[in-house]
Amino acid sequence: MNTLRSLIPYVMRYRWRLIAGLVAITISNVFSILIPRYVGHTVDTIAHGSGPGHVTAEFLLQQGLIIVGLSIGSGVFLFLTRQTIIVLSRLVEYDLRNNFLSHVQSLSVGWFNNTPTGDVMALATNDIGAVREFVGPAVMYTANTITTFLFAMTMMLTLSVKITLLALIPLPLVSYSVYRLGKRIHGLFGDVQKQYADLTSQAQENMSGVRVVRAYVREQYAIDAFASMSRLYRTKNMRLVKTQALMMPVMMALIGLSQLIVLGVGGLDVARGVHTIGDITQFFGYISQLIWPVIAIGWVTNLVQRGIVSMGRLNKIFDMKPEIADSSGTDNMVTAIGGRIEFRNVSFRYRPELPLVLKDVSFTVNRGDTLAIIGRTGSGKTTIVNLIARMYDVTEGEILIDGRPIKSIPIHVLRSAIGVVTQETFLFSDTIAGNIRFGRREAPMGKVEEAAKIARLYDNVEGFPNKFETIVGERGITLSGGQKQRTSIARAVLREPNILMLDDALSAVDTETEDEILMRLRDVMRNRTSILIAHRISTVKDADQIIVLDHGGISEQGTHEELLELRGEYSRIYERQLLEAALESL
Ligand SMILES: Nc1ncnc2c1ncn2[C@@H]1O[C@H](COP(=O)(O)OP(=O)(O)OP(=O)(O)O)[C@@H](O)[C@H]1O
Ligand SMILES: [Mg+2]
Repeated sequence: MNTLRSLIPYVMRYRWRLIAGLVAITISNVFSILIPRYVGHTVDTIAHGSGPGHVTAEFLLQQGLIIVGLSIGSGVFLFLTRQTIIVLSRLVEYDLRNNFLSHVQSLSVGWFNNTPTGDVMALATNDIGAVREFVGPAVMYTANTITTFLFAMTMMLTLSVKITLLALIPLPLVSYSVYRLGKRIHGLFGDVQKQYADLTSQAQENMSGVRVVRAYVREQYAIDAFASMSRLYRTKNMRLVKTQALMMPVMMALIGLSQLIVLGVGGLDVARGVHTIGDITQFFGYISQLIWPVIAIGWVTNLVQRGIVSMGRLNKIFDMKPEIADSSGTDNMVTAIGGRIEFRNVSFRYRPELPLVLKDVSFTVNRGDTLAIIGRTGSGKTTIVNLIARMYDVTEGEILIDGRPIKSIPIHVLRSAIGVVTQETFLFSDTIAGNIRFGRREAPMGKVEEAAKIARLYDNVEGFPNKFETIVGERGITLSGGQKQRTSIARAVLREPNILMLDDALSAVDTETEDEILMRLRDVMRNRTSILIAHRISTVKDADQIIVLDHGGISEQGTHEELLELRGEYSRIYERQLLEAALESL
């Protein structure tokens, strides 16, 4: 129950709505509980009303109107109940989901790496849905069950204690069987949903990977794999349908038993003259009013259990603190950064159980300088970029920006000063302009065009059907790898960052275009710091400083000329690439 405590503030915000709903449900039940009474009275009047002046058309009309009036009254307040309590649950769901998403956004990149996206999606949809059903339907039906029971029982007991007790015997069985069957159905339903999720992701993979499937002539394999998943989906659905089909007959049989008891015991009482036919008719009315609340007990028990489990899962996420956040050590006086970067004996591992990926790395980049990093795949280049943007904190050593420990700089100040082109380009399903503006929504079109020119994207965009307003991605045009990279470069340039980091961002453009982009960037970055990661010597040779990374450590460091003189790894790469270029131009 402790798990649900975190829900209290969400519900308290709408407490008047809740109270109004509870009042409405009580009034609705007062109306409906009176109906059997009038029906019984009418039946009695008809039964022994053969004498004159008893059953008249006016009397029947009057009774009929009363009964209809009571039904309408009950219906109106039931409507108000739903309008308050179910709407309340939707409002709570809305607040909860928004809080969940903004909390998840604040969690560290490391957490995202280790948590499957599907799990987060399940929390945001299924679990929040289960909590909503607890706040809405479960509360509403509980209130309904309690009031109906109180009213109906009072009425029944005043009529006959004996018939009441006997008629109630089968009802707990109804609740119990609904509870058990409901649990089973939920489990089976979960299986079906999971299978459906697998099926859709399989289908989606086949669609988006269609070129790979074709190229490797794996169509039949893809079709077979899909068919077998589809078959499983059908089997699981059949299992669910069978259990669902059991629900109604079982319930109806048990409820029929109750009615049978009333009919038998009540019938004998009527014969003996203890009760009137109208009394027994009333009883039938009450029993039928109790059916739904009795079913609800079993159902609500499931909702409550699910709600608690789901809230527990959500609480676990809510209790998680972002690993990287401003703290007491943050100096809020820092509102801008210049761009001098210093690594002091930095070592880093991604997780405590993993090996070090950076070992004792030290270097300094002065403001306005360009540092180039070159090295084998997996040597730790991207990791350095991640650390400068403080996506992770160092394991040992220290990073200083403008001579200040990176941890003392407010995170938003640090990241606002950085423009990064990640190794894997990511574009949103938006227009080209929207993608370029991602880090600076208010930038005027002139600036966007300028950034596109620097990234050598402008001419391409001019050729697109809607120019800068062309949508990219699944709903629009497909960009080439190089166009995507250059869009990301334009996005980073538009920010006018004090630190620009290009992680292998020129790998998909030819050397000629690369030269032009680098030349233009040099103008833009004159007073700003750049970090350039590349595999080609042609990209890095003009940098103020070049680092060769090897297995997480710096093996060579200096300018292009200095490194060539060393005659080490760098000059070997250089000679190999010169040779390659010469062979290509043959
Ligand atoms: N999120 C992560 N969690 C755990 N290990 C990681 C993570 N990211 C990278 N690594 C590991 O850290 C090492 C360095 O990776 P990094 O991405 O920095 O290499 P890189 O030099 O950028 O390589 P490439 O040239 O292929 O881009 C690799 O061994 C990699 O497996
Ligand atoms: Mg990398």
